[in-house]
This record gives sequence, C-alpha cells and structure tokens, in this order.
Amino acid sequence: MDGFNGYIGVFDSGVGGISVLKELVRELPHERFLFFGDSAHAPYGDKGADQIARLSRRIVGTMVDGGCKAIVIACNTATSAAADGLRALWPEVPIVGIEPALKPAAEAPENERILVMATAATLRLEKFHELARAWGSSSEIRTLACPGLADLIETGRLDSPAVHAYLEEKLAPYRGLVDAVVLGCTHYPFVKKQIRDILGPVPFFDGAPGTARQLHRKLEDGNLAAPALQRGEIVFRSSIEGDAQQALYERLFNLPTE
Ligand code: DGL
Repeated sequence: MDGFNGYIGVFDSGVGGISVLKELVRELPHERFLFFGDSAHAPYGDKGADQIARLSRRIVGTMVDGGCKAIVIACNTATSAAADGLRALWPEVPIVGIEPALKPAAEAPENERILVMATAATLRLEKFHELARAWGSSSEIRTLACPGLADLIETGRLDSPAVHAYLEEKLAPYRGLVDAVVLGCTHYPFVKKQIRDILGPVPFFDGAPGTARQLHRKLEDGNLAAPALQRGEIVFRSSIEGDAQQALYERLFNLPTE
C-alpha cells in the first residue's frame, strides 16, 4: 500500500469498518482516508486474540510503511485484541480504536435494560469486562454474542431471508425486554432496520461517533489535521481482490444512514 502519505488508514475485518468510515468523513471532511477491509480473513470475532493481533499488525505495518499519518481500528474485536500492542509498536503514530458504546447508553437514565450485541471475542476479552464493570451498576446489561452475523453482512445482502431468520432467532427472546441496544460490532449498524423489525423502535448506540471525535482530537493535538482547503478523498482496498468487492464497499459506504 504505497503512496498514501498523509492519509488516515482505517481498517476492519471486512465491510463493518465502513460504518465507522462514514462517521469519520462526516467529522473530518477534508481528510484523505485509506480504507482496508480484511474480508479474506473475516470474521475476526471467532478467532483467538493472538491471531487477530497478528492480522492487525500486518495491516497497520503496511499502512504506516505506505505513509499513513494516523490509524483507526474500525473494529471492536481488533481494538480489544490488538490496540495496546499496535500502540507499543508504533508509538509515533496516533492509533484510535473503537469500543462498544456502553457509556452513552448507560448515561441515559431511561436505559435501564441494555442489550450489547458483539462478537464472541469482544465479549470475552478484558476490555469489555472493564467497560461492564464501569457501567454495570447504573443499568442491567445483557450481552449477546452473534457468531455468524458479520459473515451474513459480508455478503452485502442485508435484507436476505437468512439475515431475518438469524436475527429473529437471536433477538425474539428480548422483545419488549430491552430499552436500548449497543451495537458492539461495526458490521451491525448495517442491519439496524432489520433489528428494529424484531425489537421495535429501540434506540441504538455504537462507538463510531466517539471514535471520530477522538481521531479529530488526536489530529489537532499532533498538528496533523489536513489543511481546510484540501479535498477529502477515500480509497477502498480489500484483501479480496476484484471489482465486485470494490463495488460492495462503495455501495455500503453510500447507503443512506438513518
Ligand atoms: N467488525 C468487527 C467488530 O467490530 C468484527 C466482525 C468480525 O467478526 O470479523 O467487532
């Protein structure tokens, strides 16, 4: 990935990070972004922490070598498994991660019962336990690992019968029993409508806005922000070669958000 001097490298196990990229572009319209989806190795959420950290190191290494000035880990799973190690390896590069948005969900007093949907790895790793300890006293927190859901979203068929059947089976037991849903995997914002079809009009919380604000702060602090006259740009790359994958990434980026 050469020739990306001054770009911000953004990566995920696959298409999920595009939901974060949208927020980054909204917050920082003059920046240039290099998005990399590791769709060939998705899902990360069923893998062990060491393997996720290895895959993440490889991606960040090529982004930094290619000239990226900052990195966004647009994946809750990779943030939990790899963020500390990546920051230790590249201390000179701002590396911003994402975490399940339990804090804003729990801070709203009406959210007494919060359902956190995430990958098995995110829910297993220590970072989430810390978060749950910090916010678990103000609300009742239930966790729901969704193995297989990111794979369904990777196909790009967001309204397929398979997606509806999966969500119906997973979420029907929570109907009427949750006040808010934390989308703790960056793939899941692409199926908000399908989740509401089952749970009703619940409010959603995800980490993307917080990540975008944190990146903004880091760029300002490091004097790294793009000049206000620079034209923003996005380059999509994937570990699956070919036009179909590019087209999928662009289609998901351009999907209207609610
Ligand atoms: N999008 C990723 C996350 O935010 C994980 C999906 C996967 O399992 O690869 O956790």
